[in-house]
Amino acid sequence: MASDTFEKVVSLAKRRGFVYPSSDIYGGFAGFWDYGPLGVEFKNNIKRQWWADMVYAREDVVGLDAAIIMNPQVWEASGHTKAFTDPLVECKICHKRFKADQDEDVKEHEKTHAGKGSWTAPKVFNLLTEVYLGATEPKQKAYLRGEITQGVFVNFANVTSSTRIKVPFGIAQIGKAFRNEVTPGNFTFRSREFEQMELEYFIKPDEKEGKKVFGEWKKARMAWYVGLGIDKKKLRFREHEPEKRAHYARFAEDIEYEAPFGWSEFEGIHHRGDFDLGNHKITYKDEETGEEFTPWVIETSGGVDRAALFFLLDAYHEDGKRIVLKLHPRLAPYKVAVFPLLANKPDLVKKAREIFQTLTANGLMAAWDARGNIGKRYFSQDEIGTPWCVTVDFQSLEDGAVTVRERDSAKQTRVKIEELSSYFSKELS
Ligand code: GAP
Repeated sequence: MASDTFEKVVSLAKRRGFVYPSSDIYGGFAGFWDYGPLGVEFKNNIKRQWWADMVYAREDVVGLDAAIIMNPQVWEASGHTKAFTDPLVECKICHKRFKADQDEDVKEHEKTHAGKGSWTAPKVFNLLTEVYLGATEPKQKAYLRGEITQGVFVNFANVTSSTRIKVPFGIAQIGKAFRNEVTPGNFTFRSREFEQMELEYFIKPDEKEGKKVFGEWKKARMAWYVGLGIDKKKLRFREHEPEKRAHYARFAEDIEYEAPFGWSEFEGIHHRGDFDLGNHKITYKDEETGEEFTPWVIETSGGVDRAALFFLLDAYHEDGKRIVLKLHPRLAPYKVAVFPLLANKPDLVKKAREIFQTLTANGLMAAWDARGNIGKRYFSQDEIGTPWCVTVDFQSLEDGAVTVRERDSAKQTRVKIEELSSYFSKELS
């Protein structure tokens, strides 16, 4: 990846409406980001695809959408009020702060001071974000959830008693999490407000079963990213050293992406054992066998914002004069763009409008563009990753066919107008 790709992607993200700094007119707010008209479509497509593959495609997984703010006792029991911390060190020379456990960043920074590091002793900060509720003093202290996960654990009994699901099974959830990060940075990579997409998979407490299920999910999650087009060579697993594991994890591995700022965590696969259900004093009874136990949990925890960032970085290509976002068609904000060859020919515009309306009525997110010349319109759609452009020309009025131009190859094909919807549905399936 070229050294300036990161800056180019950040700039494209703002220029084309993917991601804006939060509260931009007031100078932004560190660690917070807003998703623009294209960003919200892109992020929704990532989440929709995740939900389709993790919930709809599996009989053993159900979904949940828990509240962001929970009874603060949840965070006492889960260990987060004590152990959800980051050790921070400050450079005594320039006062920049770093996470003490990010050895590479620390070493990299020392290079800016001729290799001589002078650091404060690590100081521990809790990452939970406090909120105060109620109108009268003293207000009730609560927390914005630091991981979406606890909402699943505290609903474990509700889910098993209100559905027919039985161990082994999973509960999937997508939602916002908040961390009082002291060093937010690298664009959306480390934010204070972000979204997670997680699966908590409950199994019988058994070492062999735990290893097997952990391995299966590890493989499935890596295959998910590769299947959606991320370059295999830029992905790897990294096992957490015991001293760097989260307080709840018996074992953990990350899926990492080789970002322009170094190999970085994409998603964590965690063996949480009975840490959480045990702390919340939740057990499970198998109604058939009468067996009662505290299930173990294998977790896959991905960041939606990190997925969006890495998909963007990986998709960014320069091809001669054009910039192409080679996003997987299912993730691309617009699936298709429709153009009349000339904007001042009412017959062409009318036909193109009809096609645009039919495609959108069939559930395809379509863009309309009648400005400038056709080459500029293609370039503009390439830059936002639109996989196909449809052009209505004079011949279309005669033969009922249009030109479909494919983004990555720029190859053009004639397709009958009445076959367009099924043509795109086939390509997207
Ligand atoms: N429930 C387990 C859990 O939260 P984690 O490794 O702390 O595990 C999981 O977080 C994922 O959430 C990470 O792999 C990352 O994708 C995302 N994530 C965590 N902190 C983040 C932050 N500050 N900004 C953006 N994404 C973050």
